[in-house]
Formats: sequence, structure tokens, C-alpha cells
Amino acid sequence: MRKKIVAGNWKMNTTVPEGVALAEAVVEKSAQVPEGVGLVIATPFTHLVPVAGVVKGTRVQLSAENCADKEKGAYTGEVSAAMLASAGCEYTILGHSERRQYYGETDAILVEKVKLALANGLDVIYCVGENLDQREAGKHFEVVTAQIENVLFGLTAEEMAKIVVAYEPVWAIGTGKTATAEQAQEIHACIRKVLAGKFGAQVADDTTILYGGSCKPSNAKELFACPDIDGGLIGGAALKADDFIQIALSF
Ligand code: 13P
Repeated sequence: MRKKIVAGNWKMNTTVPEGVALAEAVVEKSAQVPEGVGLVIATPFTHLVPVAGVVKGTRVQLSAENCADKEKGAYTGEVSAAMLASAGCEYTILGHSERRQYYGETDAILVEKVKLALANGLDVIYCVGENLDQREAGKHFEVVTAQIENVLFGLTAEEMAKIVVAYEPVWAIGTGKTATAEQAQEIHACIRKVLAGKFGAQVADDTTILYGGSCKPSNAKELFACPDIDGGLIGGAALKADDFIQIALSF
């Protein structure tokens, strides 16, 4: 049985004290959420150590938002997967569209990042999604399939068990424009089919696939009711503990 997960991606928001307070509020309210729903918060690098202290021994799991594509050494400003693991992270997000779009992350770079994250014991929330031009040109299935093939097809089935896929259409991120449940479901089903073709039906069936892009308390229920949507990767609404928890109560 695949896991249901609601993950908050804080992006470049909150100071350290604000982030600690937000994490404390999430932990406090997490008791309301049924045990079967995994709760993950992804914070900026600066917040990881203090937030790890807040979530330690609770059901809330900690994630980074990115990691380096190199193991260690003279890469000024980078943070390695080993550092993240030692800071208390259980997950890292990789391949977020904002990284692809603004920081030139290619599928080839992401292959390295995924490899290093897994080698250091981190689970990966791997993001895929088309932009508006690609959607309007009817290329969304093709784009997402390529992002899955290029980065995940080199993994073993055992490694694939450590991957959560997040479908985030770029045109829905931070725009208030959510994909309809039908639009999201058909891409999620396509992702599962692509994974089944490579790794077999069981692995595909066990893979958690999250939806992200203007997911909020008012639309989470409809999205999460879809057979291939196993939860959400939440941006803006994860910055309010009440909204985040409300979304986690939407299964
Ligand atoms: P929003 O929920 O703010 O649209 O962001 C989604 C996202 O990019 C999560 O990674």
C-alpha cells in the first residue's frame, strides 16, 4: 500500500525564528491528522538544524528543498546530501520547477543529485511538470514522461521505493490557478503507467505521487479523491499551520 503524504515546501520564506515557530505550530496541530497520512516540511537550509530539533520524536518529517550534485569539496555555497542527512533530514525535494527554470537544473544534473541523495539515506521528492506553453501545445504527457525517464529510469526498483514523485504544472504554481482534478488525475495515471513499464506494476502501484500547484484547503479534497493522487506538495498554503493541517485532513 502506498503512503499518503502532505509535504510543505516553504521555498525562500520565513526567517529562522519564524520557521521554528511555524514548525512548532505544525507539530502541535499534527495530532489532528490520521496516522496514515505522512507529514513532511521542507525548509530552507538555514532552518534545518533548529527545525530538526523541533520535529525530533514527532510524526513530522524534515526535508530539504535541494542538494548539491557533487559529493563534497570546493563548491562554494553548495550543501551536500551528506550534510542534509547529518542535519536531520529524511527527505530532499529535487527538480523543483523553480530550480529547473531559474538555476538551470537539467535532467542530467538531477541524475547526480538523486544518486547522491539516495546514497546518503535520503528519500527524494522528485518534481516534474510542464509549463504553460508545453500544456497549450498539448505536450504535457510527453514532457512529464521525459522528466521521469531521464532521471528515474537509471534507478533500481529498490531505489525507486525511496522516491516520491510530485506533479507540479508550472502554470499552477503560485498562480492561484489549480489544475482540475481531471487534469491532475490523467497525468498522475500517466506517470504511474510510465513507472509500471520500467519497474513493474507493483513498484508503480506502491509509488506515492503528489500533486502541487495552488493546492489549498478549498480544493484539496477534490484532488485527493482521485485514484492516482496520493497527497500534495504545498507551497503558499504550507506557510500557515492551520491551512497545512486542513489540507492534510482532506483525504
Ligand atoms: P503553491 O502551492 O504556492 O502554488 O506552490 C506549489 C509548489 O511549488 C510546491 O512545491
